[in-house]
Amino acid sequence: MKELVARIKEDGRVLGDGVLKVDSFVTHQVDPVLMEAIGKVFADVFRAANITKVVTIEASGIAPALYTAQKLGVPLVFARKSKSLTMNEELLTAQVYSFTKQVTSTVSISKKFLTEDDNVLLIDDFLANGQAAKGLIELCQQAGAHVEGIGIVIEKSFQDGRELLENMGIKVVSLARIASLKAGEVEFIEEDA
Ligand code: G4P
Ligand code: NA
Ligand code: NA
Repeated sequence: MKELVARIKEDGRVLGDGVLKVDSFVTHQVDPVLMEAIGKVFADVFRAANITKVVTIEASGIAPALYTAQKLGVPLVFARKSKSLTMNEELLTAQVYSFTKQVTSTVSISKKFLTEDDNVLLIDDFLANGQAAKGLIELCQQAGAHVEGIGIVIEKSFQDGRELLENMGIKVVSLARIASLKAGEVEFIEEDA
């Protein structure tokens, strides 16, 4: 997505440890005009797929997911993160390990918002190692819902997330694909549309 790639080139900052800082338009301050355009692209790609729910994980997946859901005319459900979930039969839960933070967290969605009748489009702001996405897929599997695909705003293609998801048979659509963050430079994979 040209506008997104241009914005990353303009306002993205590379941190030393292979992390891209995009807090001025994605992960902290949010550009609603860009997010709406992102939502439209995801919705257009999955328009014919009869999506019934858009599912993401708090916090920064919510902005692109909300516009995507609005464009598709379906609800958004975001998985909640919580450290102290007690056993509760009304919740779908999965464990997500973060390589970045080196902690495992429990993510959950209420059973009443995800069922076997759902055809789900997953959305997230970043794809790194794919552990967050894998957790969301597990929640969908527990519900008996079908996962139609996943839309990613920024894919770090030098990490293993895409391969993990594709090996699970999931269609991955990324709007910006980053080949490298070496030497403080953002290098994109050229197929960005
Ligand atoms: P994974 O889910 O792909 O395995 O990723 P990982 O554990 O490495 O990432 C943990 C968190 O860091 C996720 O957000 C993810 O979106 C975010 N992240 C991963 N790589 C980058 C990056 O290069 N730049 C930025 N800005 N974020 C990155 P989170 O902390 O779980 O969620 P949120 O509450 O911030 O949305
Ligand atoms: Na984030
Ligand atoms: Na995220």
